[in-house]
Amino acid sequence: DRDVLILAIESSCDETAASVVKNGREVLSDVIYSQIALHTVYGGVVPEIASRKHIEKVNQVIEQALSEAGAELTNIDAIAVTYGPGLVGALLVGVSAAKAISFASGIPLIGVHHIEGHISANFIENKELEPPFICLVVSGGHSHLVVVKSYGEYEIIGRTRDDAAGEAFDKVARAIGLGYPGGPKIDKAAREGNPEAIRFPRAKVEGSEYDFSFSGLKSAVLNYLNSCEMKGEEINVSDVAASFQKAVIDVLVEHSLAAVKEYGYDKFAIAGGVASNSALRGALEKECAKRGVAFYSPSPIFCTDNAAMIGVAGYYDYIRGIRHGYDLNAVPNLKL
Ligand code: KG4
Ligand code: ZN
Repeated sequence: DRDVLILAIESSCDETAASVVKNGREVLSDVIYSQIALHTVYGGVVPEIASRKHIEKVNQVIEQALSEAGAELTNIDAIAVTYGPGLVGALLVGVSAAKAISFASGIPLIGVHHIEGHISANFIENKELEPPFICLVVSGGHSHLVVVKSYGEYEIIGRTRDDAAGEAFDKVARAIGLGYPGGPKIDKAAREGNPEAIRFPRAKVEGSEYDFSFSGLKSAVLNYLNSCEMKGEEINVSDVAASFQKAVIDVLVEHSLAAVKEYGYDKFAIAGGVASNSALRGALEKECAKRGVAFYSPSPIFCTDNAAMIGVAGYYDYIRGIRHGYDLNAVPNLKL
């Protein structure tokens, strides 16, 4: 009956983040130090720089999360930390900080899967949402269609065979001169463009209804840019952005709806950085409404990397009795 407070830490890529979450659904603080500006000059995340910056920032971010929540360590029931997948050096910083605090204070330690965190972000603002539902997880490193059977119980029914959706956004953005991070920039440019201007391919994957492939689309965009250059034609950046984005969205929507139909669930959710894409959210919301399926999505700030989502996932692990020992390690390719 008493409140359960989770202190959560996330450092798998280029945000150093900490949060305090109450009873699994209430975010008392959500501190994110984004390193994006630091990596922009290199056109992408530089792992070594990310690790070093995490070390500099992690304690400060944790202290701020506790103080903004009005909490002290003595109020905390468990420390949840992302231990994979992600960049190994980056993950190690969060994992080491969590282990050190846990060891010094005796507060239980819980390792959380990053993707489980992304999915759990949906529970923050949708208090009524409970499994089972289907979730499309699209981020810089992952494109998964997941059946969320119950808390902590997942079945991946679709995955990418090559590039992740966010990776395709980032690579295409770089090619058309929009820079890093590509997703939000393509999202914005696409609003001024015509999605029907260029017909890019919608890839089907042999042998799987739900798997994704985005590298062919990326190559098609690069070929298109090359042929324009050869012919001396000017490129319309907004049209390329809109047409590329439409090709990604069409495939994501088609696979998602096929899964919703096959499994017969009346709830569908999205998660991950690409889930903050305005056109993707709009398309999925519309198609779900047509079918009488409830559509759930986290606010954009809970789509991209944050620690609140790790605190939510950590809470459901906590009440199921999951605890980790001090042998917890960073696992860069951790499976869901
Ligand atoms: O979940 P996330 O913050 O980190 C990973 O776990 O990978 O996702 C980052 C990815 C990047 O590829 C970024 O370009 C993409 O999400 N992204 C977007 C948008 N905002 C971020 N992609 C499309 N549209 C957006 N508005
Ligand atoms: Zn992520």
